[in-house]
Amino acid sequence: MLASLAMLFVAVLLLLFLLQGQRGEKFPPGPRVIPIFGNVLQLNLKSPIKDLERLTKKYGKVYSIFFGSRPLVVVNGLEAFKETLVSKAFDFCGKPQDIMFNYAFQVQAHAPGVVLADYSPIWKEQRRFSLMTLRNFGLGKQSMEQRILAEISHVTKVLEENAGGTMDPHLLFHNAASCIICQVLFGKHFEYEDEFLKFSVELFHVTSKILNGPWGIEAFRLFRASRQKRLQFMAENKKTRVPGKPRHFIDCYLDEMDKRGDDGSSFCEDQLCALLLDLHYAGTDTIANTLLSAFLFLSYYPHIQDKVLDGKDEVSFEDRQQMPYVQAVIHEIHRKGDVTPLGLYHSATKDTELMGYSIPKGTIVVTNISSVLNEEGQWKFPHEFNPENFLNDQGEFVKPEAYLPFSAGVRMCLGEALARMEVFLVTVSLLRKFRFTWPEDAGEPDFTPLFGTIQTPKPYRMKIQLRETP
Ligand SMILES: *[C@@H]1O[C@H](CO)[C@@H](O)[C@H](O)[C@H]1NC(C)=O
Repeated sequence: MLASLAMLFVAVLLLLFLLQGQRGEKFPPGPRVIPIFGNVLQLNLKSPIKDLERLTKKYGKVYSIFFGSRPLVVVNGLEAFKETLVSKAFDFCGKPQDIMFNYAFQVQAHAPGVVLADYSPIWKEQRRFSLMTLRNFGLGKQSMEQRILAEISHVTKVLEENAGGTMDPHLLFHNAASCIICQVLFGKHFEYEDEFLKFSVELFHVTSKILNGPWGIEAFRLFRASRQKRLQFMAENKKTRVPGKPRHFIDCYLDEMDKRGDDGSSFCEDQLCALLLDLHYAGTDTIANTLLSAFLFLSYYPHIQDKVLDGKDEVSFEDRQQMPYVQAVIHEIHRKGDVTPLGLYHSATKDTELMGYSIPKGTIVVTNISSVLNEEGQWKFPHEFNPENFLNDQGEFVKPEAYLPFSAGVRMCLGEALARMEVFLVTVSLLRKFRFTWPEDAGEPDFTPLFGTIQTPKPYRMKIQLRETP
């Protein structure tokens, strides 16, 4: 009896030992790994910031933690960041495929979308097409600007109704961002009360929280419903589509499918459906939260607003090169917005090395964008909102190397051009018409964002005044 108990005990120990994630000899350091759980018990998963900061201090720029037996390597600071995403771009351009996120997103092997797709010929083909289409749709050109300005007029209307009072801009900016990307994808304006728009805003908002924190079944349900809606859009669209005369992203994609016929390429309607979700998702919360953070800082520092206008009445995106101060403000908005603090997870495409550590193929790698955007030594004022970070002594615009809010390398943000144009146009247009201030009775603002895959400022209200028209 005793002997068999002892044997059982040994067997369990052995099993635990086998299940324990283990650091290879030259693997990045980190906290002691507990069998089965890895390091999850040592982290406060709801708000891991403090714990993670502690780990960076203790273990340095590159460290590892284990989720169960699965290691995850965290990369902090510009030097390590560049080695990962620039000099060894192709070693780290994979995406982990077996994580919850992908199941919820319902990523299919033949139609993986772009954002979560592993490095593969399919991904390459689809990314190239998406990038081209977003550009030809007039990114950086007139037509896209007009689409965005038309959407901004709806924002202006809501703000006008609230002028003289205070408002929480949360929903307004989410609606605006969602509407702008919908213009690109579906070519139509959605009213802010529209069911599809409401559903999407809710979907992204809820799932970006759930996906990051404790797991919820809700995300699965929402994503399934979202897929139904996209399929419905695609079906309706076919009734009015004229081949060769694209009106929006869906039409462009269908034209491309026609062009390719059966050439064995990865273009198919499932993939279109996946892309629509990727682009809609990626283009909504990121922009909305960047704007929320922009107006949080701008309301608290109204003198910056007055300098943005600086006597100019009409501003177009083209003019930005001649406006160093505005450029500096917009870049500082993206820097302090810091909306994707950990970027999106990467994975090693082969056995490789990083900062002298060895990284086996398949290891999940997290590049800490936040650590670069706030790194001491890289910025004049790393911890405060200050456009001087992008101005030299002559008042000319300069872009420090650590300005990487859209990440870097092969997997860098697909929507950067669109995002930059949106944030520029929204900010400048609204400041031209309104002056935003911090309500006297609101106390001191709390600039610490709420952590998430996509980070968001804490809710706040801003006071809105109409500017005198000159
Ligand atoms: C990322 O960097 C920020 C800023 O340096 C730090 O507070 C945070 O703990 C880091 N996150 C991780 C996962 O190491």
